[in-house]
Amino acid sequence: MITGKYPGLRLRRNRKVSWARRLVQENTLSPNDFILPIFLIDGNNKKESIATMPGVYRYSINRIAQIIDKAIKIGIPMVALFPKTKNNLKDEIGSEALNENNLVCKAIIEIKKRYKNQIGIMCDVALDPYTSHGHDGLIKSKQIINDETIEVLINQSLLQAQMGCDILAPSDMMDGRIGKIRKALDKSNFQNVQILSYAAKYASSFYGPFRDAVGSNKSLKGDKKTYQMDYKNSDEALREVALDIKEGADMVMIKPGMPYLDIIKSIKDKFRIPVFAYQVSGEYSLIANAIQKKLINEDAIYETLISFKRAGANAIISYYADRLDKILT
Ligand code: PBG
Repeated sequence: MITGKYPGLRLRRNRKVSWARRLVQENTLSPNDFILPIFLIDGNNKKESIATMPGVYRYSINRIAQIIDKAIKIGIPMVALFPKTKNNLKDEIGSEALNENNLVCKAIIEIKKRYKNQIGIMCDVALDPYTSHGHDGLIKSKQIINDETIEVLINQSLLQAQMGCDILAPSDMMDGRIGKIRKALDKSNFQNVQILSYAAKYASSFYGPFRDAVGSNKSLKGDKKTYQMDYKNSDEALREVALDIKEGADMVMIKPGMPYLDIIKSIKDKFRIPVFAYQVSGEYSLIANAIQKKLINEDAIYETLISFKRAGANAIISYYADRLDKILT
């Protein structure tokens, strides 16, 4: 426990100079701690900026090497793929999710061909980039229907696994989907495909810029409060995580990040499993815009990222991950 008292004890002694501070530092960041999200678009030779996310781009498949080369050079273990699906390919049931020529499938094949196992690929399992209504699941009588949605998610998972996806990340928050996806994967000989469950995903206002980036913002009807968690709750996050572990999740994600550091800490303390944090688009945009407007300086990025390590996260999904060479120095 904490002992000692002033003036014998002076905590400032350990802070007197940079080397002394470095000697006692409790947490560090390395490129191994990061997952880089990549937005995909159709077409050729495109690198499109995203108005709400300064510094983040959408890439056509023939341009993704540009950002993946950089990720590999920095030493990031994994990328996460998110498609901006053309509006004319979206429908009520998200059929494009099951098209083996969709953007995500084509990107997985291209990355695996070019980089083999130099970098891992993670894919969301959810229907929102593909549905005309912007919801993560199927709708019947104005309800997001759980069990029927899972049947589609199973097929989406199997397709992405077939293409070579390494980690499937169900981000849909349907009940029971982890167990059913695990079972289907095992039956099809994908025992080694990992599942990173978005176990505690809150119905948050911080996803706005992401929905812009994947083009689901304008189309989204209503909110996601009947499946994503109520941000007033924390015990419920423990129940979600406990269930997903039982069902076969290899790792769990907490999302958003910074407003939920308490959740990250309690889940890590309680379950001692790999816990990932997602510093989501709205958090990124706040920081990036504040830096652009000179309200805060760039060191704030490091400060936010280390907060996840302090809370107990093993890895962080961050839109800054492609610029770590500047941030970690
Ligand atoms: C889709 C999904 C979302 C995010 C990741 N996967 C948006 C949502 O649930 O509406 C958000 C990521 C971010 O904001 O950076 N299920």
